[in-house]
Amino acid sequence: DVTAQQDEKHLFKIVLIGDSSVGKSNILSRFTKRQFNFDSQPTIGVEFATRSLTENGKIIQAQIWDTCGQERYKSITSAYYRGAVGAMLIYDITKQKTFENIEKWIQELKEYAETNVVAMLIGNKADLKAQRKVPSDKAAQFAENHTMAFMEVSAFDGTNVDLAFSRLINEIY
Ligand code: GTP
Ligand code: MG
Repeated sequence: DVTAQQDEKHLFKIVLIGDSSVGKSNILSRFTKRQFNFDSQPTIGVEFATRSLTENGKIIQAQIWDTCGQERYKSITSAYYRGAVGAMLIYDITKQKTFENIEKWIQELKEYAETNVVAMLIGNKADLKAQRKVPSDKAAQFAENHTMAFMEVSAFDGTNVDLAFSRLINEIY
């Protein structure tokens, strides 16, 4: 079984999901390449990148998958979620709609991912404090209601990005 194989190699497949433009691709590039791109284009197809990190004395290969936030073909969707042990549900703290749509992403996760997948709620663009539309406490409450961890991050300045991934990995363990 895919999950057991991943466990042996300490390979963790984590999928990034959320509306278009919330910053999935920049969270990926911040975490795996220490890079941020101001004018990144919408993702076409599926991409992934790997970073190794040490958690509790074990070397972990975190394989992070990224795709576009637009409607996809069902066949791509099921391949995307296959074998994923973790999922980051990402919204943009400056765009209320992207937070509301997290419900929709939770449904997709339930439909396609394995039942034991660990989800975490991520509010990105925390650097844009002046434009905030989604209060932190509201998001924290929502996450608690869905029994998942929550963190605000910024792919732009790197705040909490590493921390969010290690927290998710620790919960998968
Ligand atoms: P799709 O591939 O279309 O689903 O979008 P995406 O979720 O991958 O978004 P992407 O990473 O391409 O970022 C969209 C825009 O938001 C880009 O202009 C980024 O530069 C910007 N952006 C991403 N993360 C941050 C952040 O943390 N802070 C700020 N200020 N801008 C960000
Ligand atoms: Mg993208």
